[in-house]
Amino acid sequence: MDKYNMKSKVRGRSGNPLRYKLGLPQVLLCCTIFFLAGYYGSNSFFQEEEKVIDPLTTEKMVLDHGVTGDNSLSDIPFQVLSWRPRALLYPNFASKKQCEAIIKLARTRLAPSGLALRKGETEDTTKEIRTSSGTFLRADEDKTRSLEEVEEKMARATMVPRGNGEAFNVLRYNLGQKYDCHYDVFDPAEYGPQPSQRMASFLLYLSDVEEGGETMFPFENYQNMNIGYNYKDCVGLKVKPRQGDALLFYSMHPNGTFDKTALHGSCPVIKGEKWVATKWIRNTDKF
Ligand SMILES: *[C@@H]1O[C@H](CO)[C@@H](O)[C@H](O)[C@H]1NC(C)=O
Repeated sequence: MDKYNMKSKVRGRSGNPLRYKLGLPQVLLCCTIFFLAGYYGSNSFFQEEEKVIDPLTTEKMVLDHGVTGDNSLSDIPFQVLSWRPRALLYPNFASKKQCEAIIKLARTRLAPSGLALRKGETEDTTKEIRTSSGTFLRADEDKTRSLEEVEEKMARATMVPRGNGEAFNVLRYNLGQKYDCHYDVFDPAEYGPQPSQRMASFLLYLSDVEEGGETMFPFENYQNMNIGYNYKDCVGLKVKPRQGDALLFYSMHPNGTFDKTALHGSCPVIKGEKWVATKWIRNTDKF
């Protein structure tokens, strides 16, 4: 009888001689080695990835710039929310402090929001469409410079010059207040000839809203377009207002025609209060 058979009899097991060489201590040692290799291996792997965004590397990425250019990289994260219409979200675009300074200034000047009237419409026939209060504010009217900073950053993020933007329209929606769906472009067929158009809209949410108050795009990706949508229902793509977030969407295609999917509105506020600063971006710098 050889040694192995002896042991197998003693332990009541048969078979693989390797078993006997790997006792508990050896198995533990192997496990430890594999664990450490995995741990340090993956760690150095992730460090490798992070190098891409370390400041030294980004400094090296900056190129010589033109007279009006920047000498550093901008860090303005965004999320594409939709291509139909072209809509993107800039999370944390403005600080809490900036948002609150803008609200404070606007609060003293609020008046019921108006509407551009189509042929045959009167203030009386349209008064339920847009129930918010608001005020127009130019950046230079804000002593805290918050509007100035937001406008500057917005021009950089969109690369549409500041001169193409209208004054900020700061709006407050109280409980139940809303803005039925509409287009920001003025269709000449309905409003008469237009020397200039609102090609894009930039919305900065100045407050959180506990419930409701979303910006909605009912025709996003062509949905709801042929079912007799009634311009009041809160459907389609809905963007939840969060203090400091900014939403940008284009109302025109690159070829200058109107984007029918850019129909949008503000869902009624169900709980809380909604503050938003809107800036309409024109396709001309004179309007
Ligand atoms: C303009 O662009 C849109 C979107 O790409 C397209 O659907 C439309 O047919 C174009 N219109 C003209 C007149 O080129």
